[in-house]
Amino acid sequence: MLVTNKELMVPARKNGYAIPALNVQNLESLTAVAQAAVEEKSPVIIAISPSVLKYAGLPYIVGMAKTAAQSATVPMSIHLDHGEDFETAAKCVEAGFTSVMIDGSFLKLEENIALTKKVVAMAHPKGVSVEAELGRLAGVEERSVEEKDAILTDPETAKDFVEETGVDTLAVAIGTSHGAYKFKSEAKLDIERLKVISQKVQIPLVLHGASSVPQWLIEKADKYGAQLSNAKGIPETEIKKAISLGIAKVNVDTDLRLAFTGSVREVLTNSPKEFDPRKILGPARETMKQVAKSKMQLFGSAGKA
Ligand code: G3H
Ligand code: 13P
Ligand code: ZN
Repeated sequence: MLVTNKELMVPARKNGYAIPALNVQNLESLTAVAQAAVEEKSPVIIAISPSVLKYAGLPYIVGMAKTAAQSATVPMSIHLDHGEDFETAAKCVEAGFTSVMIDGSFLKLEENIALTKKVVAMAHPKGVSVEAELGRLAGVEERSVEEKDAILTDPETAKDFVEETGVDTLAVAIGTSHGAYKFKSEAKLDIERLKVISQKVQIPLVLHGASSVPQWLIEKADKYGAQLSNAKGIPETEIKKAISLGIAKVNVDTDLRLAFTGSVREVLTNSPKEFDPRKILGPARETMKQVAKSKMQLFGSAGKA
């Protein structure tokens, strides 16, 4: 069944677990996530980025996501990840998304507040949840900045931001980053900062850039020709600590991508005569599903649907 992020995340924060927000790009990743949720009896957030709207086409990707959510025995929400402007958010609300993120983290505080308020005013009357972001993630991808320019979320500003904007959920920056190369040295989050934020902010919190980059996925991909050996993610123990302190949505994209690429490489290496897309993408879907299920178990959402 199709629900909003708020409906999933308020009980999650209250009861100390988190909903996996898993990024999908196509039929394979979408069905991997949906099947994993049904098998684990877990609520799930289907996360779709603006670049996926361009890659797949909005009507195609939302059509598939609605089919998955409406036919599922577990609650799922369809969420715009890192919405970059008002127009994209409005288009997604119109198309049937049940939650939108407006990422004003690159703007000045006042501009972030104004944009978030505008999206809340547009989305709430239609019953759609809104996520905003405060602080800036470091990292190597488009949505991130150099480590020196990362800004961790200030707890007092977060409290004022939430009160002023009326947003439903808030993404915070506590030392994570997008992509597969998150740390050059010790892999650690600013847990003390999160403690203070969660004392001041009662709405459910969101952790972006939360892939753990499991060693087995790196080894498998590298065995078949990838070059990912310096990749490093967030330790699972840090994720668990964050969930115990109010994080109710954990975003994972990179780990699913790693699962995909390792499997595709393995099939193409071991079966050089294979050219049926289903035989190449089928095992990739299975590995993505395995990773999605492991997140549901780790975040404590398994069995909660
Ligand atoms: O945080 C961003 C997600 O990993 C989506 O990335 O824009 O390459 O689809 P993407
Ligand atoms: P990862 O790159 O750590 O998977 O983060 C994904 C994310 O934050 C999507 O919004
Ligand atoms: Zn993100």
